Amino acid sequence: SVAVSSVKELANLNSIPSSYVHPTLTNCEANDSSPDDGSIPIIDFSLLVSDDPDERSRMIEELGKACRNWGFFMVVNHGVSESLMSSMLNKFDEFFNLTAEEKLQFAEKHVLDPIRYGTSFNVLAEDSHFWRDYLKIVVHPQFHSPNKPTGFREVAMEYSKKVRDLVAQLLRGISITLGLEQQYLHNILNLDSSFQILVGNYYPPCPEPELALGLPPHSDDGLLTLLTQNGIGGLQIKHDGKWVQVNPLPNSLLVNTGDHLEVLSNGKYKSVLHKAVVNNRAKRISVAVANGPAIDAVVAPAPSDAPAQFKAMVYKEYLEYQQSGKLVGNTCLDVIR
Ligand code: SIN
Ligand code: FE2
Repeated sequence: SVAVSSVKELANLNSIPSSYVHPTLTNCEANDSSPDDGSIPIIDFSLLVSDDPDERSRMIEELGKACRNWGFFMVVNHGVSESLMSSMLNKFDEFFNLTAEEKLQFAEKHVLDPIRYGTSFNVLAEDSHFWRDYLKIVVHPQFHSPNKPTGFREVAMEYSKKVRDLVAQLLRGISITLGLEQQYLHNILNLDSSFQILVGNYYPPCPEPELALGLPPHSDDGLLTLLTQNGIGGLQIKHDGKWVQVNPLPNSLLVNTGDHLEVLSNGKYKSVLHKAVVNNRAKRISVAVANGPAIDAVVAPAPSDAPAQFKAMVYKEYLEYQQSGKLVGNTCLDVIR
């Protein structure tokens, strides 16, 4: 069960408990953060799947550049409706507004449980806590859902399916950018059974935002993470050694490449560090969908002339290791390098 109370219950305090203060993570990086988000690449999805081969190859080239130079990009004209995106955000909001007792029915007990409500980043392993509550749900290959709030299940099912279709198309494009056959990733990773987790993050206003953090710097496992948020910023990514604030275009989906795309691309596409900062004005809700290979897929660098930089590993073993809290540094990739 959750040993630490949710941050939603702490949001009315005038100062944060000392267990939420992050002197090293926050202060040393404070001047580092730049408001300049002007150059995060934009991928027009409608051109990526266009009937016009020239438009398609131009977008595939842009996609390759975005993966190589940033590991983060915004997708526009992606076909996921604005109303579906906002329903998903609203359903998570409704979930976090349930009573503490109702939410605790779903409290995290084991790291690979299909439905996990909790707080912070890794309460069992960390010294100090993060200003974030979460709900993580495994939505594929088996679909799971909490039984409340009303309508959550239907929206989550539709949203995760739409995201999966989008990811499949993006991975076709990414295969081509790596000089691979367009179904390479699909086939080798058994993407029909891809392991997909839907995560709602809830960051209530924080009375001392300069002392706290929503999420520590981390990289994501899996292939691609897709993120949407309720119009309130807070995500920062490490780019060329600096923290860059990301303010995605309205209705865009923000995509980042994960650890297993770094492995597959043999280090060409880096899994980028990112973190979430908090504010004292408005609650922030973000919905992240982590899209991995099949849980039993073996992930290894695709064949190329360059020597393999990573050892092959079963995705599930990686996940268990990553979630175990043994991880102290920034990325779990170091164990297979
Ligand atoms: C995440 O890294 O999973 C979420 C980041 C965010 O809330 O923007
Ligand atoms: Fe993340």
